[in-house]
Amino acid sequence: MLTPIALLALVPLVNAKSKTISVDFSSYDPTNHTVEEFLANYSLIINNYTVDSSGDPFSRTYTASNVDISDGYLTLKVSGGTQNGSSVPSAAIQTNDTNIRYGTFKTTAIASNVSGVCHGFFTYENDCQESDIEILTSHFTTGNARINPGLQLTNQATNCNSSDNTRDAIPYPQDPTTAEHEYTLEWSKKASKFYFDDALIATMDTNVPSAPSSFLWNSWSSGNPNWTSGPPTQDSILRISKIDINYKTSSAQHSANTVFSFVALATLLSWASTFL
Ligand SMILES: *[C@@H]1O[C@H](CO)[C@@H](O)[C@H](O)[C@H]1NC(C)=O
Ligand SMILES: *[C@@H]1O[C@H](CO)[C@@H](O)[C@H](O)[C@H]1NC(C)=O
Ligand SMILES: *[C@@H]1O[C@H](CO)[C@@H](O)[C@H](O)[C@H]1NC(C)=O
Ligand SMILES: *[C@@H]1O[C@H](CO)[C@@H](O)[C@H](O)[C@H]1NC(C)=O
Ligand SMILES: *[C@@H]1O[C@H](CO)[C@@H](O)[C@H](O)[C@H]1NC(C)=O
Ligand SMILES: *[C@@H]1O[C@H](CO)[C@@H](O)[C@H](O)[C@H]1NC(C)=O
Ligand SMILES: *[C@@H]1O[C@H](CO)[C@@H](O)[C@H](O)[C@H]1NC(C)=O
Ligand SMILES: *[C@@H]1O[C@H](CO)[C@@H](O)[C@H](O)[C@H]1NC(C)=O
Repeated sequence: MLTPIALLALVPLVNAKSKTISVDFSSYDPTNHTVEEFLANYSLIINNYTVDSSGDPFSRTYTASNVDISDGYLTLKVSGGTQNGSSVPSAAIQTNDTNIRYGTFKTTAIASNVSGVCHGFFTYENDCQESDIEILTSHFTTGNARINPGLQLTNQATNCNSSDNTRDAIPYPQDPTTAEHEYTLEWSKKASKFYFDDALIATMDTNVPSAPSSFLWNSWSSGNPNWTSGPPTQDSILRISKIDINYKTSSAQHSANTVFSFVALATLLSWASTFL
């Protein structure tokens, strides 16, 4: 007979579901399908909401019409020329799955050469459960008092005090604006590992997020010189040719059900041992 402890060991097997999403944007044929429909085929959705400025010079609005597919690339555009007092038209897509826990996320992209935006490829549950790859188009090779130039890699502080973030800026091994490069986040329980093309460039084993999350791709500006600078004076466009992600999901609903059925089973077993 299975003991309750042995049954408990089965719980992770019941919960984990593995998924692979592999998108080559050159396969998009616009004849009979919208970009939204194409993305939906890969369980990806377009974001459409405003993020408050919360102390930054500008708010930003993720705008469906700033997401497109052209010439084989998913294009995420931050529109140029936002006036003071307006929200910066920005672009984002994300996984429809919001319960991802651990996986490998590869993005092949060409960064914009127009300064004043942040391109992000990242896991997100909230501002304290987030692991990021970020490209700052104002800081490829020059920094400022607050920013080291290079590819920005961060595990946001799980205590929600951003001074405690685990972060690094890695000099770009190649110019990210002139050719496609592959940016990989390998998120496990132990660490966030970051790769540029096939080279491991950083491993962070502190502040590793543990909450079920979404994965997002975005480009935005809030005009804060401490991060994005900008907003851009002309359209700034991130071009993504491929997305290859492989992850496991962990459903809170399922785990609640599993715990419930575990309790029910244990009750049944103890009833059985009393009467049989
Ligand atoms: C688009 O749809 C039309 C009408 O259903 C069909 O005749 C045509 O072959 C389709 N084109 C492509 C490229 O799938
Ligand atoms: C979605 O995938 C199916 C099966 O591969 C294909 O027939 C269909 O055209 C795709 N739809 C879009 C919008 O790409
Ligand atoms: C997203 O998930 C919801 C809930 O499971 C489902 O109804 C919807 O069709 C999904 N959308 C896409 C684009 O995968
Ligand atoms: C985005 O939101 C705006 C304003 O709420 C709405 O008019 C528009 O239809 C939405 N677009 C999509 C693609 O959901
Ligand atoms: C916008 O505000 C900034 C900071 O207050 C100021 O330097 C700039 O001149 C303003 N630009 C316009 C177009 O009003
Ligand atoms: C910036 O990128 C665009 C689009 O790829 C290109 O046409 C342009 O020549 C680039 N400008 C500079 C200054 O490198
Ligand atoms: C945040 O962390 C910094 C550095 O560890 C510390 O000096 C500061 O007091 C912390 N702030 C809060 C609100 O706990
Ligand atoms: C930038 O950072 C400095 C130092 O922490 C801070 O004093 C300043 O207010 C920040 N600027 C903005 C626009 O948030």
